[in-house]
Amino acid sequence: MTNWTPSSWREKPIKQVPAYPDPAALVEAERQLGSFPPLVFAGEARELKSRLAAVSRGEAFLLQGGDCAESFAEHGADHIRDFFRVFLQMAVVLTHGASKPVVKVGRVAGQFAKPRSADTEVIDGVELPSYRGDIINAIDFNEASRVPDPDRMLQAYRQSAATLNLLRAFSMGGYAELTRIHEWTMGFMKGSNWSTRFEEVARKIDDAITFMAALGLNPENTPALKQTSFYTSHEALLLGYEEALTRRDSISNNWYATSGHMLWIGDRTRNPDEAHVEYFAGIHNPIGIKCGPSLVNDDLLRLLDRLNPTDEAGRITLISRFGADKVHEHLPRLVETVQRAGRTVVWCCDPMHGNTIKASTGYKTRPFDRVLSEVRNFFEVHREMGTYAGGVHIEMTGDDVTECVGGVSAVTETTLADRYNTYCDPRLNASQALELAFLVAEEVHAQKPPRQQRLAGE
Ligand code: PEP
Ligand code: CO
Repeated sequence: MTNWTPSSWREKPIKQVPAYPDPAALVEAERQLGSFPPLVFAGEARELKSRLAAVSRGEAFLLQGGDCAESFAEHGADHIRDFFRVFLQMAVVLTHGASKPVVKVGRVAGQFAKPRSADTEVIDGVELPSYRGDIINAIDFNEASRVPDPDRMLQAYRQSAATLNLLRAFSMGGYAELTRIHEWTMGFMKGSNWSTRFEEVARKIDDAITFMAALGLNPENTPALKQTSFYTSHEALLLGYEEALTRRDSISNNWYATSGHMLWIGDRTRNPDEAHVEYFAGIHNPIGIKCGPSLVNDDLLRLLDRLNPTDEAGRITLISRFGADKVHEHLPRLVETVQRAGRTVVWCCDPMHGNTIKASTGYKTRPFDRVLSEVRNFFEVHREMGTYAGGVHIEMTGDDVTECVGGVSAVTETTLADRYNTYCDPRLNASQALELAFLVAEEVHAQKPPRQQRLAGE
């Protein structure tokens, strides 16, 4: 570790690197980024880490979600607000149903770079470089658009700053005040099963607020009723961008990524000997590791040793994404590996990335049933093994899109084309996201504290 620097990843083998045609322009864009202010502060990242430590003890629950890929085109205030209010609705359903604090982490304000399974894409016999996210190239299928452009990093930075600014205003400035809970239900959801169920929860919360007001507690004197803590996260894939925003904290003297509060390593770049893991080893933020079926037990141990040698609670969140029918095959072996090594992690379920299929109409989609089923299997395995299922990680939007099939909103293979707006993977729409939140709330409520905590308390 003594040789770590924000740029030491450059000495290691690396995957998913864009082929920038002009290396000098890349260096110049990274230099400019390096002179820009941080987007988040080390103290905020430390606070999130301590909240995640509470999740690892079974005292709180993690809700992480947002777009698969943010885009330069979808950057209006309405898009951000609609995401934020559905996210808040989910968080309220979870807090109320599970009677636990919910740690809210958006895939937002920096989620721009996308790993791809193939370097090129072929449409009607034409082969072009793959789209790698708006921070790298453009989605339009023509040669010029697909050339990586380093100035896109500057635009992604500025968009992240503006998004974060609005989200900070929403979470601190009164929009998230619980007395406004009824205003969060969105027009197109009114009358649906889930908005009716949400209204029931909202009424109960109203009663509790009225009772608390009678005791003298109100949003003016009780910040928890007026504000909420909201954190940002993204996959740290484009390491030149991350390096430029890596700064030394003046209080602790430690290095922090300041592009977001929490960063995660994707399933395609988590090789313990390669560049991405090298970069993550030196930053002190809380980090996630995506765990797909190809993660072998030994590599998981090596990752934990490398990325969290002191076993600090809250540092590592393992985000499993196997596919509904593979959870029972893979999750128990990872849980056992972590248990045997006596390691502390947050267990989080991404029910999206293992459940992507191609619809007969050609669209990439996710059957909502399979998403729910991966979540159920995740809770079941943790119940059986005495560990605490600590969170969910989902791709969702506040918009009324038709990207995942199923749910009470009944998107079908034929209606997928109606509002298929995603820049990358299919997202849950607002109604599907809320439906999922009710299921998760029931599962969390039924869950016992982790076995270690129970033994300690006996
Ligand atoms: C993602 O979260 O968008 C993603 C690409 O996930 P994974 O690395 O798990 O495939
Ligand atoms: Co995705």
